[in-house]
Amino acid sequence: MNIGVLTGGGDCPGLNAVIRAIVRKAQSVGGHRVLGFYDSWDGVLEKRYEELDISKVRGILPKGGTILGTRRGSPIDYPDGAQRTKQVFVDLGLDALVVIGGNGSLTVASMLANDHGLPIVGVPKTIDNDVVGTDATFGFQTAVQIATDAIDRLHTTAESHDRVMVIEVMGRDAGWIALHAGIAGGATAILVPEVPFDIKEVAAIVAKRHERGRYASLVVVAEGAKPKPGTLEVPEPQLDKYGRELHGSISQVIAPELSRLTGFESRVVQLGHVQRGGTPTAYDRVLSTRFGLAAVDAVYAKAFGDMVVLRCGRIERVSMQVTRGQTRTIDLDLFNDVAATFFG
Ligand code: F6P
Repeated sequence: MNIGVLTGGGDCPGLNAVIRAIVRKAQSVGGHRVLGFYDSWDGVLEKRYEELDISKVRGILPKGGTILGTRRGSPIDYPDGAQRTKQVFVDLGLDALVVIGGNGSLTVASMLANDHGLPIVGVPKTIDNDVVGTDATFGFQTAVQIATDAIDRLHTTAESHDRVMVIEVMGRDAGWIALHAGIAGGATAILVPEVPFDIKEVAAIVAKRHERGRYASLVVVAEGAKPKPGTLEVPEPQLDKYGRELHGSISQVIAPELSRLTGFESRVVQLGHVQRGGTPTAYDRVLSTRFGLAAVDAVYAKAFGDMVVLRCGRIERVSMQVTRGQTRTIDLDLFNDVAATFFG
Protein backbone atom coordinates (compact mmCIF):
# COMPACT_ATOMS: atom_id res chain seq x y z
CA MET A 1 0.00 0.00 0.00
CA ASN A 2 0.97 3.64 -0.41
CA ILE A 3 -0.11 5.62 2.65
CA GLY A 4 0.22 9.38 2.65
CA VAL A 5 0.41 11.58 5.73
CA LEU A 6 0.13 15.33 6.17
CA THR A 7 -0.02 17.79 9.04
CA GLY A 8 -2.48 20.68 8.67
CA GLY A 9 -3.38 23.93 10.44
CA GLY A 10 -1.41 25.31 13.36
CA ASP A 11 1.38 23.06 14.61
CA CYS A 12 1.33 21.54 18.08
CA PRO A 13 3.63 19.39 20.20
CA GLY A 14 3.12 15.69 19.41
CA LEU A 15 2.76 15.86 15.62
CA ASN A 16 6.12 14.21 15.10
CA ALA A 17 5.23 11.45 17.53
CA VAL A 18 2.17 10.64 15.39
CA ILE A 19 4.26 10.59 12.20
CA ARG A 20 6.82 8.33 13.85
CA ALA A 21 4.12 5.89 15.01
CA ILE A 22 2.56 5.76 11.53
CA VAL A 23 5.94 5.03 9.94
CA ARG A 24 6.83 2.43 12.54
CA LYS A 25 3.61 0.51 12.10
CA ALA A 26 2.93 0.95 8.38
CA GLN A 27 6.44 0.95 6.97
CA SER A 28 8.77 -0.95 9.23
CA VAL A 29 6.23 -3.49 10.52
CA GLY A 30 3.70 -3.55 7.67
CA GLY A 31 6.10 -3.13 4.76
CA HIS A 32 4.00 -0.37 3.18
CA ARG A 33 5.25 2.87 1.64
CA VAL A 34 4.63 6.00 3.67
CA LEU A 35 4.65 9.29 1.78
CA GLY A 36 5.02 12.39 3.94
CA PHE A 37 3.54 15.41 2.18
CA TYR A 38 5.21 18.73 2.80
CA ASP A 39 3.34 21.82 3.94
CA SER A 40 -0.06 20.27 4.39
CA TRP A 41 -2.39 20.22 1.35
CA ASP A 42 0.07 22.33 -0.66
CA GLY A 43 2.35 19.30 -0.76
CA VAL A 44 -0.49 17.09 -1.98
CA LEU A 45 -1.62 19.44 -4.75
CA GLU A 46 1.98 20.12 -5.82
CA LYS A 47 3.08 16.48 -5.32
CA ARG A 48 5.82 17.51 -2.92
CA TYR A 49 6.55 14.63 -0.58
CA GLU A 50 9.26 12.37 0.70
CA GLU A 51 9.16 8.70 1.37
CA LEU A 52 9.41 8.16 5.11
CA ASP A 53 11.17 5.20 6.62
CA ILE A 54 12.44 4.52 10.08
CA SER A 55 15.70 6.39 9.48
CA LYS A 56 13.75 9.56 8.65
CA VAL A 57 11.78 9.52 11.89
CA ARG A 58 14.56 8.52 14.23
CA GLY A 59 14.79 10.89 17.20
CA ILE A 60 11.67 12.90 16.41
CA LEU A 61 9.47 11.58 19.25
CA PRO A 62 10.33 14.43 21.68
CA LYS A 63 10.66 17.08 18.99
CA GLY A 64 8.03 19.86 18.81
CA GLY A 65 6.63 21.18 15.53
CA THR A 66 6.29 18.92 12.49
CA ILE A 67 9.05 17.57 10.27
CA LEU A 68 6.62 17.85 7.34
CA GLY A 69 5.79 21.52 7.79
CA THR A 70 2.24 22.80 7.96
CA ARG A 71 -0.01 25.46 6.45
CA ARG A 72 -3.53 26.70 6.70
CA GLY A 73 -5.56 26.58 3.48
CA SER A 74 -6.85 23.51 1.65
CA PRO A 75 -8.01 22.10 -1.72
CA ILE A 76 -11.56 23.25 -1.12
CA ASP A 77 -10.33 26.83 -1.44
CA TYR A 78 -10.21 26.09 -5.21
CA PRO A 79 -13.30 25.32 -7.32
CA ASP A 80 -11.63 22.23 -8.82
CA GLY A 81 -9.73 21.37 -5.61
CA ALA A 82 -11.47 18.06 -4.85
CA GLN A 83 -10.97 16.89 -8.43
CA ARG A 84 -7.30 17.89 -8.40
CA THR A 85 -6.79 16.03 -5.13
CA LYS A 86 -8.44 12.92 -6.56
CA GLN A 87 -6.09 13.08 -9.54
CA VAL A 88 -3.05 13.22 -7.24
CA PHE A 89 -4.27 10.07 -5.49
CA VAL A 90 -4.48 8.36 -8.89
CA ASP A 91 -1.14 9.70 -10.15
CA LEU A 92 0.75 8.65 -7.01
CA GLY A 93 -1.15 5.40 -6.52
CA LEU A 94 -2.13 6.61 -3.08
CA ASP A 95 -4.26 4.04 -1.24
CA ALA A 96 -4.92 6.22 1.79
CA LEU A 97 -4.07 9.55 3.34
CA VAL A 98 -3.82 10.29 7.06
CA VAL A 99 -4.70 13.91 7.83
CA ILE A 100 -3.44 15.12 11.20
CA GLY A 101 -5.31 18.33 11.88
CA GLY A 102 -7.62 20.46 13.97
CA ASN A 103 -11.20 21.52 13.29
CA GLY A 104 -10.40 23.22 9.97
CA SER A 105 -8.29 20.40 8.53
CA LEU A 106 -10.67 17.70 9.74
CA THR A 107 -13.64 19.50 8.25
CA VAL A 108 -11.84 19.60 4.89
CA ALA A 109 -10.77 15.96 5.25
CA SER A 110 -14.36 15.04 6.00
CA MET A 111 -15.62 16.83 2.89
CA LEU A 112 -13.05 15.10 0.71
CA ALA A 113 -13.65 11.69 2.28
CA ASN A 114 -17.35 11.70 3.06
CA ASP A 115 -18.58 13.78 0.10
CA HIS A 116 -16.00 12.97 -2.58
CA GLY A 117 -15.10 9.40 -1.59
CA LEU A 118 -11.38 9.92 -1.05
CA PRO A 119 -9.69 7.34 1.20
CA ILE A 120 -8.79 9.62 4.10
CA VAL A 121 -8.62 9.03 7.83
CA GLY A 122 -8.18 11.77 10.43
CA VAL A 123 -6.12 12.30 13.56
CA PRO A 124 -7.30 15.18 15.78
CA LYS A 125 -4.68 17.60 17.06
CA THR A 126 -4.62 21.08 18.55
CA ILE A 127 -3.39 22.75 21.69
CA ASP A 128 -6.89 24.26 21.94
CA ASN A 129 -8.48 20.87 22.80
CA ASP A 130 -11.62 21.93 20.94
CA VAL A 131 -12.25 19.08 18.48
CA VAL A 132 -15.70 17.53 18.83
CA GLY A 133 -15.81 13.73 19.15
CA THR A 134 -12.68 13.20 21.21
CA ASP A 135 -12.13 13.63 24.95
CA ALA A 136 -8.73 15.18 24.27
CA THR A 137 -6.32 16.28 21.59
CA PHE A 138 -2.56 15.98 21.96
CA GLY A 139 -0.68 19.23 22.38
CA PHE A 140 -3.24 20.53 24.87
CA GLN A 141 -1.60 19.09 27.95
CA THR A 142 1.76 20.51 26.90
CA ALA A 143 0.26 23.96 26.37
CA VAL A 144 -1.46 23.83 29.76
CA GLN A 145 1.81 22.93 31.44
CA ILE A 146 3.63 25.81 29.73
CA ALA A 147 0.89 28.25 30.75
CA THR A 148 0.85 26.92 34.32
CA ASP A 149 4.63 27.29 34.62
CA ALA A 150 4.27 30.89 33.42
CA ILE A 151 1.50 31.62 35.93
CA ASP A 152 3.63 30.19 38.74
CA ARG A 153 6.49 32.50 37.77
CA LEU A 154 4.25 35.52 37.42
CA HIS A 155 2.88 34.99 40.93
CA THR A 156 6.09 36.03 42.66
CA THR A 157 6.75 39.15 40.65
CA ALA A 158 3.10 40.23 40.84
CA GLU A 159 3.13 39.74 44.61
CA SER A 160 6.30 41.79 45.06
CA HIS A 161 4.67 44.73 43.28
CA ASP A 162 1.09 44.23 44.47
CA ARG A 163 0.13 44.11 40.82
CA VAL A 164 -2.57 42.63 38.67
CA MET A 165 -1.16 40.42 35.95
CA VAL A 166 -3.38 39.74 32.96
CA ILE A 167 -2.14 36.59 31.25
CA GLU A 168 -3.50 35.89 27.79
CA VAL A 169 -3.43 32.31 26.55
CA MET A 170 -4.54 30.74 23.26
CA GLY A 171 -8.09 29.57 22.74
CA ARG A 172 -10.02 31.48 20.11
CA ASP A 173 -13.33 29.64 20.34
CA ALA A 174 -12.91 27.54 23.47
CA GLY A 175 -11.26 28.35 26.78
CA TRP A 176 -9.77 24.96 27.64
CA ILE A 177 -6.21 26.21 28.15
CA ALA A 178 -7.32 29.18 30.24
CA LEU A 179 -9.59 26.97 32.34
CA HIS A 180 -7.06 24.24 33.06
CA ALA A 181 -4.01 26.47 33.49
CA GLY A 182 -6.10 28.86 35.57
CA ILE A 183 -7.19 26.11 37.94
CA ALA A 184 -3.69 24.64 38.11
CA GLY A 185 -2.08 28.05 38.66
CA GLY A 186 -4.62 29.35 41.19
CA ALA A 187 -5.98 32.17 39.04
CA THR A 188 -7.86 35.07 40.62
CA ALA A 189 -10.29 34.98 37.70
CA ILE A 190 -10.53 33.09 34.41
CA LEU A 191 -12.12 34.61 31.32
CA VAL A 192 -13.18 32.28 28.52
CA PRO A 193 -15.07 32.70 25.23
CA GLU A 194 -17.94 30.54 26.50
CA VAL A 195 -18.80 32.80 29.45
CA PRO A 196 -18.94 36.53 28.58
CA PHE A 197 -17.48 38.57 31.42
CA ASP A 198 -18.40 41.83 33.13
CA ILE A 199 -15.23 43.83 33.75
CA LYS A 200 -16.76 45.48 36.82
CA GLU A 201 -17.33 42.07 38.40
CA VAL A 202 -13.73 41.08 37.64
CA ALA A 203 -12.50 44.37 39.13
CA ALA A 204 -14.57 43.76 42.27
CA ILE A 205 -12.98 40.31 42.70
CA VAL A 206 -9.50 41.80 42.32
CA ALA A 207 -10.17 44.75 44.65
CA LYS A 208 -11.57 42.51 47.38
CA ARG A 209 -8.55 40.25 47.19
CA HIS A 210 -6.05 43.09 47.50
CA GLU A 211 -7.96 44.64 50.40
CA ARG A 212 -6.88 41.61 52.40
CA GLY A 213 -3.22 42.65 52.09
CA ARG A 214 -0.37 42.62 49.56
CA TYR A 215 -1.42 40.21 46.92
CA ALA A 216 -0.78 39.05 43.43
CA SER A 217 -3.83 38.91 41.22
CA LEU A 218 -3.55 36.74 38.15
CA VAL A 219 -6.35 37.06 35.67
CA VAL A 220 -6.08 34.35 33.02
CA VAL A 221 -7.74 35.35 29.76
CA ALA A 222 -8.39 33.17 26.72
CA GLU A 223 -7.63 35.15 23.57
CA GLY A 224 -11.23 34.70 22.43
CA ALA A 225 -12.81 35.91 25.70
CA LYS A 226 -15.65 38.37 25.20
CA PRO A 227 -17.23 41.00 27.44
CA LYS A 228 -20.96 41.00 28.08
CA PRO A 229 -22.57 43.26 25.48
CA GLY A 230 -22.27 46.94 26.36
CA THR A 231 -19.85 46.46 29.27
CA LEU A 232 -16.49 47.10 27.63
CA GLU A 233 -15.39 48.55 24.32
CA VAL A 234 -13.09 46.21 22.39
CA PRO A 235 -11.56 47.25 19.04
CA GLU A 236 -12.59 45.32 15.93
CA PRO A 237 -10.05 42.54 15.40
CA GLN A 238 -7.95 42.51 12.23
CA LEU A 239 -8.16 39.49 9.93
CA ASP A 240 -5.33 37.27 8.72
CA LYS A 241 -4.99 36.17 5.08
CA TYR A 242 -7.41 33.30 5.67
CA GLY A 243 -10.06 35.66 7.02
CA ARG A 244 -9.60 34.50 10.61
CA GLU A 245 -9.63 37.03 13.43
CA LEU A 246 -6.16 37.95 14.63
CA HIS A 247 -6.41 37.78 18.39
CA GLY A 248 -4.14 39.34 20.94
CA SER A 249 -5.91 42.56 21.85
CA ILE A 250 -8.40 41.59 24.55
CA SER A 251 -5.84 41.53 27.39
CA GLN A 252 -4.57 44.95 26.27
CA VAL A 253 -8.06 46.29 26.88
CA ILE A 254 -8.74 44.40 30.10
CA ALA A 255 -5.51 45.34 31.92
CA PRO A 256 -5.82 49.14 31.82
CA GLU A 257 -9.52 48.93 32.62
CA LEU A 258 -8.80 46.80 35.70
CA SER A 259 -6.21 49.38 36.78
CA ARG A 260 -8.68 52.18 36.28
CA LEU A 261 -11.40 50.41 38.26
CA THR A 262 -9.21 49.10 41.11
CA GLY A 263 -6.35 51.58 41.33
CA PHE A 264 -3.81 48.75 41.17
CA GLU A 265 -1.07 48.65 38.60
CA SER A 266 -1.49 46.01 35.93
CA ARG A 267 0.73 44.30 33.39
CA VAL A 268 -0.10 42.17 30.36
CA VAL A 269 1.66 38.92 29.50
CA GLN A 270 0.67 37.30 26.21
CA LEU A 271 2.05 33.79 26.05
CA GLY A 272 1.29 33.40 22.35
CA HIS A 273 3.16 30.79 20.34
CA VAL A 274 5.38 29.82 23.27
CA GLN A 275 2.42 27.56 24.11
CA ARG A 276 2.76 25.70 20.82
CA GLY A 277 6.52 25.30 20.78
CA GLY A 278 8.95 22.80 22.19
CA THR A 279 8.82 19.26 23.37
CA PRO A 280 5.52 17.49 24.14
CA THR A 281 4.81 16.28 27.67
CA ALA A 282 4.96 12.52 28.31
CA TYR A 283 1.14 12.39 28.26
CA ASP A 284 0.99 14.02 24.84
CA ARG A 285 3.71 11.73 23.47
CA VAL A 286 1.73 8.68 24.58
CA LEU A 287 -1.56 9.99 23.15
CA SER A 288 0.11 10.95 19.84
CA THR A 289 1.71 7.53 19.59
CA ARG A 290 -1.59 5.76 20.25
CA PHE A 291 -3.36 7.95 17.67
CA GLY A 292 -0.67 7.28 15.05
CA LEU A 293 -0.90 3.51 15.48
CA ALA A 294 -4.70 3.63 15.48
CA ALA A 295 -4.70 5.69 12.28
CA VAL A 296 -2.83 2.89 10.51
CA ASP A 297 -5.37 0.39 11.86
CA ALA A 298 -8.12 2.65 10.47
CA VAL A 299 -6.42 2.57 7.06
CA TYR A 300 -6.14 -1.23 7.19
CA ALA A 301 -9.84 -1.40 8.14
CA LYS A 302 -10.70 1.00 5.28
CA ALA A 303 -12.50 3.19 7.82
CA PHE A 304 -12.26 6.13 5.45
CA GLY A 305 -14.07 9.25 6.58
CA ASP A 306 -13.37 8.34 10.21
CA MET A 307 -10.92 9.84 12.67
CA VAL A 308 -9.31 8.23 15.67
CA VAL A 309 -10.40 9.63 19.02
CA LEU A 310 -9.90 9.18 22.74
CA ARG A 311 -13.02 8.19 24.66
CA CYS A 312 -12.97 7.23 28.31
CA GLY A 313 -9.31 6.28 28.00
CA ARG A 314 -9.77 4.07 24.95
CA ILE A 315 -8.90 4.81 21.34
CA GLU A 316 -11.96 4.58 19.13
CA ARG A 317 -13.11 5.82 15.71
CA VAL A 318 -15.87 8.28 14.83
CA SER A 319 -16.92 9.90 11.58
CA MET A 320 -15.03 13.12 10.83
CA GLN A 321 -18.41 14.58 9.96
CA VAL A 322 -18.91 15.40 13.64
CA THR A 323 -16.16 18.03 13.36
CA ARG A 324 -17.69 20.01 10.52
CA GLY A 325 -17.82 23.62 11.55
CA GLN A 326 -18.05 22.53 15.19
CA THR A 327 -16.13 23.52 18.33
CA ARG A 328 -15.90 21.49 21.50
CA THR A 329 -16.44 24.09 24.19
CA ILE A 330 -15.37 23.86 27.82
CA ASP A 331 -17.03 21.82 30.50
CA LEU A 332 -19.15 24.47 32.23
CA ASP A 333 -19.36 22.39 35.42
CA LEU A 334 -15.58 22.54 35.66
CA PHE A 335 -15.75 26.30 35.22
CA ASN A 336 -18.62 26.97 37.63
CA ASP A 337 -18.11 24.30 40.28
CA VAL A 338 -14.33 24.06 40.39
CA ALA A 339 -12.60 27.10 38.89
CA ALA A 340 -15.05 29.75 40.16
CA THR A 341 -14.82 28.44 43.72
CA PHE A 342 -11.29 29.86 43.86
CA PHE A 343 -11.93 33.21 42.18
CA GLY A 344 -10.81 36.11 44.34
O1 F6P B 1 -3.98 26.12 16.42
C1 F6P B 1 -4.90 26.87 17.13
C2 F6P B 1 -4.26 28.14 17.59
O2 F6P B 1 -3.21 27.81 18.42
C3 F6P B 1 -5.22 29.12 18.24
O3 F6P B 1 -5.38 28.98 19.59
C4 F6P B 1 -4.60 30.44 17.87
O4 F6P B 1 -5.56 31.46 17.85
C5 F6P B 1 -4.08 30.16 16.51
O5 F6P B 1 -3.74 28.82 16.48
C6 F6P B 1 -2.91 31.02 16.08
O6 F6P B 1 -2.63 30.72 14.77
P1 F6P B 1 -1.39 31.24 13.94
O7 F6P B 1 -0.24 30.33 14.25
O8 F6P B 1 -1.82 31.15 12.54
O9 F6P B 1 -1.10 32.63 14.42
